[in-house]
Amino acid sequence: MFGNVTDPEISSKTKVLGIIGSPIEHSMSPVMHNAALQGLNLDYRYLAFHVPLERLSSAIDGIRGLGIVGVNVTIPHKENVMKLLDEIDEKAIKIGAVNTIKNVCGRLIGRNTDAEGAMEAIKNVGWKLDRSNVVIIGAGGAARAIAFALAREVPRIVILNIEENQARKLTTDLEAFTKTTIMHYLLDEERTQHEVLEADLLIHATSIGMHPNVEQSLVPKKCLHSDLHVFDIVYNPLETKLLKDAREAGCPTLGGIDMLVNQGALAFKWWTGVTPDKELMKQAAIKALGL
Ligand SMILES: NC(=O)c1ccc[n+]([C@@H]2O[C@H](COP(=O)([O-])OP(=O)(O)OC[C@H]3O[C@@H](n4cnc5c(N)ncnc54)[C@H](OP(=O)(O)O)[C@@H]3O)[C@@H](O)[C@H]2O)c1
Repeated sequence: MFGNVTDPEISSKTKVLGIIGSPIEHSMSPVMHNAALQGLNLDYRYLAFHVPLERLSSAIDGIRGLGIVGVNVTIPHKENVMKLLDEIDEKAIKIGAVNTIKNVCGRLIGRNTDAEGAMEAIKNVGWKLDRSNVVIIGAGGAARAIAFALAREVPRIVILNIEENQARKLTTDLEAFTKTTIMHYLLDEERTQHEVLEADLLIHATSIGMHPNVEQSLVPKKCLHSDLHVFDIVYNPLETKLLKDAREAGCPTLGGIDMLVNQGALAFKWWTGVTPDKELMKQAAIKALGL
């Protein structure tokens, strides 16, 4: 499936990349990155490290101590890791989350590639944003990254979240950054229906609908309409219930796999200096998802 790729033997020169999180077994990043590394014959290996919250600080010291070249950061560490780094990119500070770390001679630098990865995915499918009335469901790390990326491109963003404080905080942070109109509401069925009916673009950024709970969706089917573009950042399954309902309602749809590949490819380029083959990464992730 991956063509004529070679895989350098592990030696004392092999460099290490990885991902830290808890849980971590579900992560598609190792297969995606190792496929790209093999495709380019680069002498690196990418490993998944299960790091519970209480071991985050020692894991970060371990990156410095062992000279690990770079790591991705996933749930639940994207925010907590920030205080343990030596430098953080301005965009990641605004977003309030780091998903990628690079080790430069023992100095750990943090960045967020989720925002760029999502925007690239939206732009690659040709969706126009400049007059879009956007609804974002969720106010966690990924929702924040996408909201900051969109905030200077669209006229209006409505944030819906089950925890109103999180949505309020994101609204306040965005208002300090943009003149775009930002509204937030508690996520409930009535409000969701009302806002989605008025929207041009719906972005779902919670874990609802993710494997194994594939029959769940936060958006009632009856409010989906053919003028609405629907982006669900969940990538397992490739077509969530929300995306299936949206497709049946005639909406253009986009799943989370392209964002996953884009954010990974940006990290890969930053660590190795080499642009990876994104199609190879995508096919490796799809294969690992058993699809
Ligand atoms: N495609 C990609 O590249 C990509 C990248 C990053 C994340 N993701 C996916 O995006 C999802 C969110 O990730 P994240 O990093 O943003 O996680 P997170 O920071 O933990 O945020 C999760 C969000 O989901 C909300 N939520 C949790 N349980 C809920 C429920 N029962 N009903 C409604 N909302 C609920 C949370 O609300 P509270 O604010 O109240 O906690 C929060 O807004 C995950 O499925 C993840 O796999 C995909």
